[in-house]
Amino acid sequence: MKRYEKFADEIAELVRTGVLLPGQKVPSVRHASRTYGVSPSTVFQAYYLLESRGLIVARARSGYFVREHAQRTLHEPEIAASQAPTTEVNVSELVFSVLGSLKDPNTVAFGSAFPSPDLFPLQRLARSLAQSVRAMPPQAVIADMTAGNADLRRQIALRYMVSGVMLPLDELVITNGAMEALNLCLQCVTQPGDLVAIESPAFYATLQVLERLKLKAVEIPVHPREGIDLDCLAKRLAELPIKACWFMSSLQNPLGASMNEAKKRGLYELLQRHQVPLIEDDVYAELYFGTQPPKPVKSFDREGLVMHCGSFSKCLAPGYRVGWVAGGRYAEQIGRLKLMTTISPSVPAQAALADYLQQGGYDRHLRKLRHALEAQQASMLASAARHFPASTRVTRPAGGYFLWFEFSQRVDSLQLFQLALAQGISLAPGPIFSATRAFGNCARLNYGHPWDAQCEQAMAVLGRIIDSF
Ligand SMILES: Cc1ncc(COP(=O)(O)O)c(C=O)c1O
Repeated sequence: MKRYEKFADEIAELVRTGVLLPGQKVPSVRHASRTYGVSPSTVFQAYYLLESRGLIVARARSGYFVREHAQRTLHEPEIAASQAPTTEVNVSELVFSVLGSLKDPNTVAFGSAFPSPDLFPLQRLARSLAQSVRAMPPQAVIADMTAGNADLRRQIALRYMVSGVMLPLDELVITNGAMEALNLCLQCVTQPGDLVAIESPAFYATLQVLERLKLKAVEIPVHPREGIDLDCLAKRLAELPIKACWFMSSLQNPLGASMNEAKKRGLYELLQRHQVPLIEDDVYAELYFGTQPPKPVKSFDREGLVMHCGSFSKCLAPGYRVGWVAGGRYAEQIGRLKLMTTISPSVPAQAALADYLQQGGYDRHLRKLRHALEAQQASMLASAARHFPASTRVTRPAGGYFLWFEFSQRVDSLQLFQLALAQGISLAPGPIFSATRAFGNCARLNYGHPWDAQCEQAMAVLGRIIDSF
């Protein structure tokens, strides 16, 4: 990491934790340069970076100030522990009815699972698709189906190396999005009726996969900032025959929580003691706001116990349906299961991504995307502080594009969802993230779309509906 990026991260942390308050002046360039022992040009570069991340603004002849809308006026939610140790899962109908109503392109897409397509280099990808398909040797169409595109596998392995994971290429299975990877991993290590530890709240598709495979959920509460409750997990592992864990250790969906490195190591050691495999869903890994990529639990794995699943859907190429799993000791079995189900993700889509990654524009795109999302998060937080009741609680994740809101107990988020939809606004109501349909007063809102007057207006409408409960 460059010195100015590190310094920018330090200042961003002071803003995030409220040490530097909205409207407050950040140290002058001269003062910061002297205090932190860095050159004035390093401070300037750091402040430009923070400006583009939407955290500070320059005022003519006065210096740099923390942006007013970086203010945190709403408190963090509190997640209550689930009472039931194990739960049959039966949420699919509810999830489908909610997702089905999100398709209208005219609604304000706070309920969407994707960021705005405008934030992706789709034209550039289209060029890669055309070029790579034209250059594709005819035999590759068949050969790439089973193993996956060799260039793409190498590019993915290189990215693992940069984040501290040395990955043998044969551990990598390219899949139809992360969703297929996650499904295959779970099928590989469970039988119908088995217990699987999942997060609470959890990504709704996790619940649907458990339901489809007739598995029972052991819900482990997630702290909105620090991730899963390790003590609760240790207790459940000691008392129940849990066959697998499916967790997101960074930028968890829907809370945005990220475990720190010590906790990730602790999680790995706990699972290693019990010899319980971890399916690590890391689809938001590239969307961190700082300059340092979070390490996955996979980076501590010396025994092949972690199946680490990633995807290009959230950060580069939605719709291309290319994901992967670094399958550890289960890789071969996962590869065979894939052959028995879908055989292969689209060969042209893999080739297009390999070409794009090789041309070197990916990291530049990711930096731009992260800055846009960070600024949009600040806008949504500020808007919520303006329009939602003061009792509202909200997360403030260090990446991704979701905020999780907890309203007063009076608010029924399924009803809120219907009322908002009638006004052209979608949201993801809390109960779709729980096997026990908990979180009835919570909702996940997507800030992945460039902030504009329509978004602001939609927040005002939501605020009025919430007030009416
Ligand atoms: C947490 C999580 N995991 C997995 C997926 C699926 O990813 P993909 O589109 O690559 O299948 C999603 C997509 O919404 C997600 O949010």
